[in-house]
Amino acid sequence: MTMNIHPELLSVVERFELPDELGFGETLAPVMCRLDYADGAWGEGQLLPYADISIDPSAKVLHFAQVVFEGLKAYRGEYAQIKLFRPHMNAARFNRSCARMLMPELPESLFIEGVSAVSACVAPLVPGLPGQSLYLRPLMFGTQPSLGLAPSDSFTFLVIASPSDALITGALRVVVERGMTRASTGGTGNVKASGNYGASLHSSMAATDSGFNQPLWLDAREQKYVEELSAMNFFAVIGGELHTPGTGGTILPGVTRDSVIALAGDLGIPVREGRIAIDTLLQQIRSKQCTEAFACGTAAVVAPISVIGEKDGAMYELPEVSGPVANRLRDELLDIQEGRTPDRFNWLYTAGM
Ligand SMILES: Cc1ncc(COP(=O)(O)O)c(C=O)c1O
Repeated sequence: MTMNIHPELLSVVERFELPDELGFGETLAPVMCRLDYADGAWGEGQLLPYADISIDPSAKVLHFAQVVFEGLKAYRGEYAQIKLFRPHMNAARFNRSCARMLMPELPESLFIEGVSAVSACVAPLVPGLPGQSLYLRPLMFGTQPSLGLAPSDSFTFLVIASPSDALITGALRVVVERGMTRASTGGTGNVKASGNYGASLHSSMAATDSGFNQPLWLDAREQKYVEELSAMNFFAVIGGELHTPGTGGTILPGVTRDSVIALAGDLGIPVREGRIAIDTLLQQIRSKQCTEAFACGTAAVVAPISVIGEKDGAMYELPEVSGPVANRLRDELLDIQEGRTPDRFNWLYTAGM
């Protein structure tokens, strides 16, 4: 792709001052990448100063949620250059999301160039303390102005970015969601369709209102099996083995999940992918057969779970919080991401413009 670079972009980056407290996803980098799709083809990529965009009030996205997104990180780490973590996996998942929502494919090379160019352009603003990163948010939405229920024929792809602190520093308290569901068979739970997240907010707020951090979603059909958290996959250490729900179509195949499974295999920790019945799991926590549980995702990396609660007040405290397995996997993953150990899986991709 030939990327058109706005003439003032570099001075915009130079003038930008990072706040003392970055937060996660709160500080927006002053650069964005934009590509528009019309008449069946993608136009030229543009690297622009971050700014408002205009959208027609009848644009399809506002009425029918034809919008998908991704989340990935770039690290300053120990390297002179900025490194993206497994961006090709995000590109592939982005296109699976687009296909499910009847949106045009974005060639992998354009996705990679977009995230890479934004990262390279804001390189001076990528924070480098442990846990910090540049969080990248690629998204695509239907822009065709028309109120009829039909797919859009024009789209905008954007990449925005946020110099960020770690999202989660402590342990998570999660509550079993036995009422609402996040995703059903044949739905959109296995892709990053934005509607999934809007529909999860009600349970998330109820969870925080009752002293938890997040709901733990169960399958929609039987309300019996653990699925995931709203933006993280779920793992439990049971009898010394690592268990995680299989990606059977209703949970998001996480890049971090895949990385944790690869690392566990490498470290000789047995991994079982399959159904985890919630009631059995809770009993295994009580009997201390389940020693640890953790959530993982790009934003949170590996976040230990301290308690799984029920809405009726029952609490199941994990015997080990930040136990040996979660800690080992988290450290191994961060050491690769932040450049402290060799990238033995070839997961890092050097950003450039
Ligand atoms: C529903 C859901 N599950 C799991 C994850 C973790 O995926 P990843 O590790 O690719 O960030 C995410 C984050 O994108 C998510 O939105």
